[in-house]
Amino acid sequence: MVHGGAGLWAKDEKRAGRALKEVKEVAERGFDVLKSRGALEAVVECVKVMEDSDCFNAGIGSTLAIDGSIAMDAAVMLGSKLDAGAVALVKDIKNPVVLAKLVMEKTAHVLMAGDGAMKLAEHFGLEKANLFTEYRKKVWEEYKERFERGELTYLSANLELLRKMEVGTVGAVALDSNGEIAAAVSTGGLTLKLPGRIGDSAIVGAGIYADRWGGCVATGIGEGVMRLVACKEACLFMEQGLSAQEATEKVVKRGLELIGPDYPFGLIAVDCEGNIGAAHSTPQLCWAYKKEGMKEAISSLSAVRV
Ligand code: GLY
Repeated sequence: MVHGGAGLWAKDEKRAGRALKEVKEVAERGFDVLKSRGALEAVVECVKVMEDSDCFNAGIGSTLAIDGSIAMDAAVMLGSKLDAGAVALVKDIKNPVVLAKLVMEKTAHVLMAGDGAMKLAEHFGLEKANLFTEYRKKVWEEYKERFERGELTYLSANLELLRKMEVGTVGAVALDSNGEIAAAVSTGGLTLKLPGRIGDSAIVGAGIYADRWGGCVATGIGEGVMRLVACKEACLFMEQGLSAQEATEKVVKRGLELIGPDYPFGLIAVDCEGNIGAAHSTPQLCWAYKKEGMKEAISSLSAVRV
């Protein structure tokens, strides 16, 4: 199961059509990898493909911070042993999710940030890329001007962006035939963020979690997702017997009740029985999935809106 971010995709029909097509292709590709190489390789491959597409806010096409820079967060998690790897504030590299996987597999750490993470990327020879796109630069210019005129704050800007266009994060969750559940996530973060700001996608438990009972990834305003520890909570609900759908809806509902409507977000999840779940308080969520027995992947611009 994959998603290409929350927000309002339908306003820009050209981008919405492309995103729907791309997430469907990503789910197809992920499903092939799942069958041959298992859940972890599948979710990393899915996120990597979306990082390489300028359609999504991750890798190429990431959003810009207030100073016009791009700093990305990413993470991976493997459910059976609670293995996890995450990176924050990484720049210039094409695939932060690959670096997150290297943190998990090749270091004794879980989360690496900034210069240290970049040194690791260099050590492993990760490919660099120009991540800037005209589309994101245009959005940044418009919102920075309004921010400087005092018309917007960081939060009101991102809330408006979420209601007007697609904003956040890409992610994938998978269950393979060995019962292994894996999750991966990657993002450029939110527009106009302060240099040094880290979002939910780098925080295990908040923007990503996977255990024996389920896996979950988040998209939307990270400051709310982090305070809820949303993905861990969804997995806890799955451990308590809720299906992936019930768990995602319950967490999104709790977000609205406990934090309020100004921090909208979306979740996708897979439980250990292979049920999928998707819920959002954002206007839309672009997602796709494929299971054994399905002829082709199904993609959609919305799930259960809470
Ligand atoms: N959900 C992406 C972020 O807040 O950074």
